[in-house]
Amino acid sequence: MLQKPRGTRDFLPDEMEARRSVEAKLREVARRWGYREVCTPEFEDLELFTMRSGAGIVEEMYVFEDKGGRKLTLRPEITASVIRMYVNEAKVAPKPIRWCYFADCFRYERPQKGRYRQFWQFGVELIGADTAPADAEVILLAADMLDATGVKYELKVGHLSFMKNLLAGLDPVSQRKVMGHLDKKDFDGLAATLGEMQEPGLARALTDLVECRDLQSAFAIAGEIAERERIEKTISLLDAAGLKYTLNFGIVRGLDYYTGFVFEAFADNLGAENQILGGGTYRLAKLFGGDDAASCGFAIGFDRVMVALGEVKQKREPIVAIVCTPEGRSRALAVARAFRKAGFRTETDLMERGIGAQVSHASKTADYAVVIGKRETESGEVTIKDLKSGEQKTVPLDEAIAGVKINGPR
Ligand code: HAM
Repeated sequence: MLQKPRGTRDFLPDEMEARRSVEAKLREVARRWGYREVCTPEFEDLELFTMRSGAGIVEEMYVFEDKGGRKLTLRPEITASVIRMYVNEAKVAPKPIRWCYFADCFRYERPQKGRYRQFWQFGVELIGADTAPADAEVILLAADMLDATGVKYELKVGHLSFMKNLLAGLDPVSQRKVMGHLDKKDFDGLAATLGEMQEPGLARALTDLVECRDLQSAFAIAGEIAERERIEKTISLLDAAGLKYTLNFGIVRGLDYYTGFVFEAFADNLGAENQILGGGTYRLAKLFGGDDAASCGFAIGFDRVMVALGEVKQKREPIVAIVCTPEGRSRALAVARAFRKAGFRTETDLMERGIGAQVSHASKTADYAVVIGKRETESGEVTIKDLKSGEQKTVPLDEAIAGVKINGPR
């Protein structure tokens, strides 16, 4: 028996319906904030991702060559594509630009619970607004979206300039090494690296900064920061909006395009892979040949949100099964058409079973059976049976349709 590729999943109808209903909630929040959906290609030129992140990222991607010898990759994320699209198509559009997407990404990672090789992100990118209200909007939107799904989480907000200030004296290679340890929360590795560099003062300051949870103390630890006023303004907007979050200056984010604010959300009830959202401010447009537009965005790890939500009992729509004798078959089709026109999920017998077998099948799969037998064919009425209560009545078609409860019994 053939199997699906490692790290991918199949979704049966029940799961797809649950996913679509959570997706609809996210879409609705994005719509209310004015974010409009965009779509970019599933694969891109490899260069789009290596330009900023270097060749190392190739290890984590599905890279291939097409028949024309072009180096391509399945997208590992969507921010770079969206900014490429902005540069290609929308440079002159009125700013700010509010875009969102719901799409699959591919990363060549070691699969485990909550970590897949194909996974979905719901993301937003706000392009061309370089202000505190812009950064605050995106962070507030992130919380609004997660709240809409019902997932329980903790939101952590940080800013890279604190860490950058502390590490300013190190060469770029050492900086990357330290940031790498912080991103992986590998504090032993961090201590060892700083030990080798003979930087005990720095080690202490970094530990203080990572543990610090209030803004003024962070300024005291990291020293004078050019963006201080802007940072304070953004944070005061978040507080004024009543956002629940903690400050965390140890957030450095794996993707290395961020320039200022960075934020992450963690689900309360997931194991190791509990990060359900990541984002921040960045500048990529110039690198891709456009203007130096400031941007801020985030992506929700949709699959992790679904895992965190667990089994959510969906209110399924009622299912109507049309049951008929051979002579009632053509009328059954007209009756089915009428139920479908009225908006109901309606199924007819395709197995040419006897009427008894049809009713027994309907009792396993549907909420209502609409019987078109000899009597109904003669009278022009239909018999509708509520399969849960067993109640049944013979009535005109309109009345039967009106009697189906939208939030059916099952
Ligand atoms: P990211 O943190 O790499 O950021 O990914 C965003 C979210 O995608 C993660 O927080 C996680 O929930 C989910 N995710 C990542 N890898 C996997 C995986 N292998 N399996 C399941 N879920 C996964 C970005 O991708 C940025 N583009 C976010 C952004 C948008 N920054 C600015 N705008």
